Amino acid sequence: MTIPSPCFVLEEERLRANLSLLRGVQEQAGCKIILALKGFALFPTFPIVREYLPGTTSSSLYEARLGHEDFGGEVHACAPVYLPQEMPELLGYVSHITFNSLSQWSRYRSLIEAEQGRVSPALRINPEHSEVATDLYNPGAPGSRLGVSIEELSDGLPEGIEGLHFHSLCECGADALERTLATFEQNFGHLLQQVSWLNLGGGHLITREGYDVDLLVRLIRDLRTKYDVSILLEPGAAIAWRAGYLTATVLDRVERRGIKTLMLDVSFSAHMPDCLEMPYKPTVRSARDPAPDEQGWRLGGMTCLAGDWLGDYVFETEPQIGDPIIFEDMMHYTLVKTTMFNGVAHPAICMRDAEDNIRLVREFGYADYRSRMG
Ligand SMILES: Cc1ncc(COP(=O)(O)O)c(C=O)c1O
Repeated sequence: MTIPSPCFVLEEERLRANLSLLRGVQEQAGCKIILALKGFALFPTFPIVREYLPGTTSSSLYEARLGHEDFGGEVHACAPVYLPQEMPELLGYVSHITFNSLSQWSRYRSLIEAEQGRVSPALRINPEHSEVATDLYNPGAPGSRLGVSIEELSDGLPEGIEGLHFHSLCECGADALERTLATFEQNFGHLLQQVSWLNLGGGHLITREGYDVDLLVRLIRDLRTKYDVSILLEPGAAIAWRAGYLTATVLDRVERRGIKTLMLDVSFSAHMPDCLEMPYKPTVRSARDPAPDEQGWRLGGMTCLAGDWLGDYVFETEPQIGDPIIFEDMMHYTLVKTTMFNGVAHPAICMRDAEDNIRLVREFGYADYRSRMG
């Protein structure tokens, strides 16, 4: 079949390449790597992901339900707060649950105890070591609401807590983990004697070229030997890193006061919000950044938000109306963050296998837009 436009295209071979690297880490380091659904939740791929990874982690009731019903295995939950009315249902899905504060633990402790060991509780701590420059993505920023501080644990860990969790990285290398662990061990190392598992969170971009896998393996092995705890990692981005693209089409070309814009059938605001939020400039196939004295094309999104554009790109061949524009690496986070702002059509979703067979997973229509409005 031909791929419609616009369309997110998951490339199975690339996904499998990421997953086999992660399986290698699990085997060499003796740890578990679970999928953070907030980063990648394309459930038609779960039968593939499940071949390599033993479970998922969720930040809400719906993610936990998806993990339980469509993935299976271990289902972890780690949310800043839990809703009292959702807790009974949530506990039916999870095997492990992490609390973000001592008061959340106190509030739900009796419900966990009633599960009689079926659900293992943990506390999220904040190592207060910062490796992330952008505050929007930095759980270690001063005063962060994410994770219990060492001062709050001066009396040790509360009775009943079986695990510790920290998440303080974002698209980081193993060297960042090494530095974080040094602070973590200094402040919280003594608490590891009281727990049986330690979750090192996400933000480990293990599948990025150049990631120091040997260092990661060594760090995990050292932790296991030193503290006798089982180790988990819960990356999202690393699973679907460079595992697919978003294909769009040029609908129009406009030039205003010397600025040339290609008008597309996708929106940065609705379909690639991180490009505006983070912000970051995605790689576009067969295009490059302009040289200092060169004029490139802006890419214009299809909503009427004034800032729904990105620049600038110089193309190998100047795009004409009807030509495709391909945004690389659009599987992690992009797909889970799309909206139907402005009522613009949501891109379809396809999967491409190693033999180049294309499967249409989903198309979206008016009913999808309308159903969210009433
Ligand atoms: C608690 C927690 N775990 C895991 C992740 C996944 O991180 P990443 O997709 O950067 O690996 C996040 C991302 O924000 C998170 O907040």
